[in-house]
Amino acid sequence: MSNVKINEFKSRIQAESVTDKLLGQTLLFAGWAFRYRDQGGVIFIDLRDRSGVIQVVCRKELLGEQFSKAEKVRAEYVIAVQGKLALRDENSVNPKMKTGKFEVIVETIELLNPSKTPPFALDEFDPTGEEVRLKYRYLDMRREELKDRLILRHKLVFAIREYLNEKGFLEIETPILNKSTPEGARDFLVPSRLNQGQFYALPQSPQLFKQILMIGGMERYFQIVKCFRDEDLRADRQPEFTQLDMEFAFVTEEELQTEIELMWAFALDKVFGVKIQTPFQRMPYSVAMEEYGSDKPDIRFGMKLVNVSDLVKDCDFQVFTGALQSGGVVKAICVPGGSNISRKEIEDLTAWLNRDYRAKGLAYMKHGAQGLESTITKRFSPEALTEIAKRVGSKEGDMLFFGADASKIVNASLGALRLKLSEKYDPPKSKFNFHWVVDFPMFEQDEATKSWTFLHHPFTSPKEGDWQKLSDWKEGKDVNLSEINAKAYDLVLNGTEIGGGSIRIHNADIQSLVFSAIGIQEDAAKDKFGFLLEALSFGAPPHGGIAFGIDRIMMILTGGTSIRDVIAFPKTQKGQCLMSEAPGIVENKQLEELKLRIIPI
Ligand code: AMO
Ligand code: AMP
Repeated sequence: MSNVKINEFKSRIQAESVTDKLLGQTLLFAGWAFRYRDQGGVIFIDLRDRSGVIQVVCRKELLGEQFSKAEKVRAEYVIAVQGKLALRDENSVNPKMKTGKFEVIVETIELLNPSKTPPFALDEFDPTGEEVRLKYRYLDMRREELKDRLILRHKLVFAIREYLNEKGFLEIETPILNKSTPEGARDFLVPSRLNQGQFYALPQSPQLFKQILMIGGMERYFQIVKCFRDEDLRADRQPEFTQLDMEFAFVTEEELQTEIELMWAFALDKVFGVKIQTPFQRMPYSVAMEEYGSDKPDIRFGMKLVNVSDLVKDCDFQVFTGALQSGGVVKAICVPGGSNISRKEIEDLTAWLNRDYRAKGLAYMKHGAQGLESTITKRFSPEALTEIAKRVGSKEGDMLFFGADASKIVNASLGALRLKLSEKYDPPKSKFNFHWVVDFPMFEQDEATKSWTFLHHPFTSPKEGDWQKLSDWKEGKDVNLSEINAKAYDLVLNGTEIGGGSIRIHNADIQSLVFSAIGIQEDAAKDKFGFLLEALSFGAPPHGGIAFGIDRIMMILTGGTSIRDVIAFPKTQKGQCLMSEAPGIVENKQLEELKLRIIPI
């Protein structure tokens, strides 16, 4: 028996596929030595493969001279074993392992490859930080946590493909080497060797191509596609990320949203066994901003922003009246059971809101036995205090926080405060909440330059009722562009924007009007998007679409806090891959070919 070698793998079975039916059979396993215990004459090895772990037992008496191979096994050695599947005796059953009642009595063992000692233990207890894990991503990937997320990600993408195929969508690839598409971020540029001095831009999204596919009669398109944006990175942003990108011809906002709801309901049920309610709530952008101070509100808990400007306009508190006189607002949030928040905590919150949101202060009142109490309450009439408490719905034991400033600052700061205080004072009441934010404004004005820009992207259609306003504006009539609404919608999951889209402009004249409103003159428009404008004039069907951030969705569905956790090879905050050490310096010869020179700074 000692001369038997394992020289093929086709009969190999996965660790966690063992069942009672296979008891007594000789089976072949191959994988990594996860844990091992040498008990002198008997060596127990937990063999791990992608499916999980099974205990294999090497007995000297059975293995003879092969036993010396088992003695050499160390953590992460790659091994193959052949042996009989047996039941462990009752007191060595391990209920924590899925295969805890089985063991394999090894008859043949091969060491396929040794391993250096890993820089961290591959179990769930090792506290090693993210940097080392990113450098040794292939080791981290052997751990259950990351492995399971990658498997779930595969399942999600697979379920989406299955569903969309069934619904008549075609998956069509679009180019990576492109002209720039405006999605509001900076482009990654690729120099062209064959066209010196010219650059491709990596796609921020396939936006223009998917619209062209509709004009080309493809009717329903999707693609699971890499997008590239050179922007400052955060926990939910990567320079390259994956979109589920979709476009539909002959569709209304409502119809598109319904299709999307059914798709997510199918995929979540199939992959996570999570049942979600459809239709999703639809919330106008103006309500989201007014009540939650955010265009991606987490509506799983309360502490809404409540406008109390009218109740405080005659008070004697200059902070409030001053803000109102300069055209601002006064809003409050009520923190249930928050009256024990200490003065020191309030000071810290105030400093944070000042630093990150330019809030000048954070006035507060406690709701005590006699109603609202604080050093500032004497500046308000008793009626006003009663009305404030009534409007915010406070009761004894609650805390009220106030913001008084331009509405942008109040919304941003109180919106952030409510998110921060939620976990302790008003935790989310449901696990997953999908909802739409709809009726976005078409344009927004830059405070400093006063120029107008788009909120979604410039191919988004204004609401039909607002088309005339755009023509009037072009003719020089007095029109406030901020009052023009767009047929745009975002899908929000637990307070994160997971997708956004719009019904597009399918008329070349309206497209030109929109370009002109955002300061892209005719020549520039022709230069940048001439092919789209031309295509629009060849019978473009009404069309619309949406794109979802697959990484973000996976992060939320798997309870993670960073999209790096659901990406096989992510980049750090500085856009680096710690494993491959990208980006890197290139050879002078490569630069010469491209006629590029690095200017030292
Ligand atoms: P948008 O720019 O809103 O729309 O992007 C769609 C979704 O992509 C995800 N996302 C990101 N995920 C990780 N890292 C990033 N840097 C990043 N940037 C965006 C978000 C976002 O909701 N072409 C339009 C869609 C359309 O109109 O059809 C677009 O790209 O989850
Ligand atoms: P002051 O009169 O500046 O001492 O502020 C009195 C209280 O009002 C303090 O609790 C401040 O934090 C708060 N406060 C000051 N400015 C604002 C503001 N713009 N919005 C809300 N509260 C403020």
